[in-house]
Amino acid sequence: MKLDAHWMPFTANKAFKANPRMLASASGMYWTSGEGARILDMTAGLWCSNLGHGRESVARAMYEASVNLDYAPSFGFGHDASFTLAERLAALAPGDLNHVFFTNSGSESVDTALKMAIAYQSARGLGSKRMFISRERAYHGVNMGGTTVGGITTNTRTFGRWAPVDHLHSTLDIERNAFSKGLPDFGADRAEELEQLILLHGAENIAGVIVEPIAGAGGVIIPPKGYLKRLREICDAHDVLLILDEVVCGFGRTGSFTAGIEFDILPDLFTVAKGLTSGTVPMGAVFCRSGIHDTIMASAEGIEFFHGYTYSAHPIACAAAHACLDIYEEEGLFTRVNEGIGKYFEHVLHNLKDLPEIIDIRNYGLLGAIEFADQGSEAPVGVRVFQEAWKQGVMLRGLGNIVVMSPPLVAEESHIDEFAEKIWRSIRTVTEEQRMTA
Ligand SMILES: Cc1ncc(COP(=O)(O)O)c(C=O)c1O
Repeated sequence: MKLDAHWMPFTANKAFKANPRMLASASGMYWTSGEGARILDMTAGLWCSNLGHGRESVARAMYEASVNLDYAPSFGFGHDASFTLAERLAALAPGDLNHVFFTNSGSESVDTALKMAIAYQSARGLGSKRMFISRERAYHGVNMGGTTVGGITTNTRTFGRWAPVDHLHSTLDIERNAFSKGLPDFGADRAEELEQLILLHGAENIAGVIVEPIAGAGGVIIPPKGYLKRLREICDAHDVLLILDEVVCGFGRTGSFTAGIEFDILPDLFTVAKGLTSGTVPMGAVFCRSGIHDTIMASAEGIEFFHGYTYSAHPIACAAAHACLDIYEEEGLFTRVNEGIGKYFEHVLHNLKDLPEIIDIRNYGLLGAIEFADQGSEAPVGVRVFQEAWKQGVMLRGLGNIVVMSPPLVAEESHIDEFAEKIWRSIRTVTEEQRMTA
């Protein structure tokens, strides 16, 4: 097969095309590779296939929606499934996060939330509040808003910042918190920087603060105890909105519907995508508190918010999300992580501690990371472990010196055992090769 025409996203295209990793099918916790190998999915694809693969009821719902109403224009027209879905989702959200705006991805959710924050500030006569504070190592997608607030330098360097933004330091502190289980003890004081940044830039210029509760693509960085609550307090004290980007953390990944609920933080806006349809069809959403929604609604006659997508609330995506919500509820998946499997994953992950080159293992719910010492090499250990693990039959995600895991929420102990055996072998192989060539 010719591979040249498809320019692949976030992929080392030349390397991939020289040595492709193809996926042919998926079922339950496993992929089948193009070569017929069975691959354990320890990443839920790209943090999204929370229900595992090949769920019949979801496929059926999508098929039925598509033969009944394959498309409905989203501007100025409605269809039942989007309203019932929004109502169902709002009922799951805490406090008065009662309004749901549909998008088609995490990136679109982030840009929508940023625009909502600016629209809100403007609607209440505070049009100078247009700046955002984000955090180093943050990933908020790849649209211009998300790229601007993003904190992973490789993703922003080429493109620059398209709006005023400043960044908090990352909370990762391996010196003090290495091998923490769950929330690390040290680092809540890093939230105080927010106060300094607000004073520096002026609260009258700042629309909001956006953070991932647990930073995913930055390397599964778990917030220190008390850190997020302190961010909330500082935002309140300065009349600045708090946006939680729950694109990875939402839909049961931490043991609650959202990490905001898990950590008892009420954001003003939060974003989701991925788990909403368990990766089966693109869909995202932004949840908005009533006060923000009502202020924007009251600010204009006619169209109140000049924003939306051709495929917002697409009938097939709405049907998929409804069917996924049925499964989350029937199988108790929002909280399953806290009922044993999360602890088992933690136990197994931390048992790898004594393997060579490991400087940190961290986890929360069904999110985990192993960080290796930086060898300064062009092929960092995390990436090589990911490559070796693929050969061994397990999908991990390699992010520089880190490998991250986010298995589907339906994982059983036997899957975690299989992962442990294969990652153990992969790390031994890579570090042994490294020792031989040193
Ligand atoms: C926290 C976070 N926000 C936003 C996004 C962007 O989502 P998408 O790739 O669906 O645009 C991601 C993707 O991984 C993410 O992890």
